[in-house]
Amino acid sequence: MSHGSVAAIIAAAGTGSRFSSDGRPKQFFELGGYPIYIWSLLSLSTMDDIGLVVLVSRESLLEEMKETVDSVFAERGLAASRKKIQLVPGGDTRQESVRLGLASLAAAPPEFVLVHDAARPFLTHALVQAVIEEVTATGACTLALKVADTIKKVESGAIIETLDRSNLWAAHTPQAGRYLWLREAHEKAASSGLTATDDAMLLEGTGKRVTIVESRAHNLKITVPEDIDRAASFADILGQINDYA
Ligand code: CTP
Ligand code: MG
Repeated sequence: MSHGSVAAIIAAAGTGSRFSSDGRPKQFFELGGYPIYIWSLLSLSTMDDIGLVVLVSRESLLEEMKETVDSVFAERGLAASRKKIQLVPGGDTRQESVRLGLASLAAAPPEFVLVHDAARPFLTHALVQAVIEEVTATGACTLALKVADTIKKVESGAIIETLDRSNLWAAHTPQAGRYLWLREAHEKAASSGLTATDDAMLLEGTGKRVTIVESRAHNLKITVPEDIDRAASFADILGQINDYA
């Protein structure tokens, strides 16, 4: 590999309150035979360029996740990929979970980190490769998709502004940066009580230029139960991920 070391963090410690059907967090919902979080874990851990994957888990479910990971990777003969995976407990917000994931890498810091949402299962090697190429060249980037709908700014139930769609992008994950940049941005935010909706926003806040890598529609986030219906149309992507291993 021509660039520095690359690690990945998968945020999988949420409660899935907007999804909740049976009280289990959505990342445990079974899709194509595996819990949702297994898919991005398979994709990231089978990339040769990625040396370490931190799976940030809810503390109460960490042992269960470890057992599932052990059995899936053993069953598929993926011992080398399994060795790259470390499970660490997360926090009460996504930001806190990512901060804890970054902190867990402090003893042997990688040069670059990709931060991914477990709730986005359709993560292909092609997308990961594009993010790695960009982050190693620019230092900070995120996958994003051009907005297709016209976006309205609304107050009290009525439109107050129509935004110019041509320069609007919806942020996806992985979002990536130099490890030290991301670590600094997260630690600063935590100590000053700053909350951001994503990692790119924290990097922007520390003055970093975050470049865009074009995402794909299949890289959707499972947020509400209806998203499972949309996900069904991307079954071929899970087939592709199955083939990596
Ligand atoms: N996440 C996390 N730790 C938290 C909250 C969220 O690791 N304390 C993760 C989720 O597991 C998910 C990703 O961050 O993979 C994106 O968050 P989101 O889609 O909002 O998931 P939830 O917070 O679980 O869902 P909701 O907001 O509906 O409760
Ligand atoms: Mg959330």
